[in-house]
Amino acid sequence: MRKKIIAANWKMNKTFSEATNLLKELKSGISKLPNNKAIVVIAPPFPYLSQAVNELNGLNNVFVAAQNCYSEEQGAFTGEVSAPMLQSLGVKDVIIGHSERRNYFKEDADFLLKKTICGLKNNLTPIFCIGETLQQRESNKHFETVKNQLEETLFKLDKTSFAQVIIAYEPVWAIGTGLNATPAQAQEMHNYIRFVVSEKYGSEIAQSTSILYGGSCNEKNASELFACKDVDGGLIGGASLSATSFLEIVKQMPQ
Ligand code: PGA
Repeated sequence: MRKKIIAANWKMNKTFSEATNLLKELKSGISKLPNNKAIVVIAPPFPYLSQAVNELNGLNNVFVAAQNCYSEEQGAFTGEVSAPMLQSLGVKDVIIGHSERRNYFKEDADFLLKKTICGLKNNLTPIFCIGETLQQRESNKHFETVKNQLEETLFKLDKTSFAQVIIAYEPVWAIGTGLNATPAQAQEMHNYIRFVVSEKYGSEIAQSTSILYGGSCNEKNASELFACKDVDGGLIGGASLSATSFLEIVKQMPQ
């Protein structure tokens, strides 16, 4: 089922006490939101996952995600964190393919696909990120880039597996830059993504796939982005580090 989702990606931010405070503020703020129908997903760094699960436990439609996982289930992979570990903590989703992972850690399509499969096998919902660079957009290759990113990863899944995935369209030029995609640019790309999904898996799957927008989404622009027909929510970085800003964004999801 197509769901409205607002996900917070804290990235590599917050000390333990700062994370504790933010989780408490989120808990109290979310529980006071009148008629919130959106699913809220919080993705703190690994060390705070267990605490986040405990703190947010019992809130309706609130889940904890990891920002990454490894492609193997266990073994001699020093420093890595596996999908079964995350699942055993009560984590529900995992962000895969974020542009920062692709760029700084050189994660390629095959690796991202393996992580996705491993996540799904362990009952984690992948929030799979795709999006073009500024250079690709300026040379009018943004549609082609996004389609290729899907073809070399998610489109290798069977229909049942694909149906469990959440897509996040995050134009790289908009991430952390303060320069968000306009609602028209976001709608155009989300509509295109839904179109290629429907070509591959049929219109029923395409209509039920949640496609989130990410990239400088904040309390000032969220309502116009969320008003777009094919935008099902947001993946929020910088603006998710303050409970006030993040809750303001959640409030802007149309009911
Ligand atoms: P941003 O990050 O909101 O800070 O641009 C979004 C993301 O990278 O998920």
